[in-house]
Amino acid sequence: MTKITFIEADGTRHETDAEAGATVMETAIMNAVPGIVAECGGACTCATCHVYVDKEWEETVGGPSAMEEDMLDFAFEVKPSSRLSCQIKVKDELDGLVVHVPGRQG
Ligand code: FES
Repeated sequence: MTKITFIEADGTRHETDAEAGATVMETAIMNAVPGIVAECGGACTCATCHVYVDKEWEETVGGPSAMEEDMLDFAFEVKPSSRLSCQIKVKDELDGLVVHVPGRQG
């Protein structure tokens, strides 16, 4: 199991156990983390699964693909640490990952 912590805009923390092979978005949905809407179900066509990767984790997680970057144009308040959580696959190296949920989604 890979531990992933979601932190809401108001500071509420959700510590979850993610399954390898799932995505960070699927982990949020399975654990009823508020603020991850995921309208398109992970097809990278909605940008409502937007998260900010914690500073400590940006390098390990890496940046978005070109397709994801195009979709991020539709998200609110995009920052350099922005990612679409449906495009981040859970793997062992991400054990302890912290992501921040924006105050609102597109
Ligand atoms: S769930 Fe729609 S882009 Fe991630």
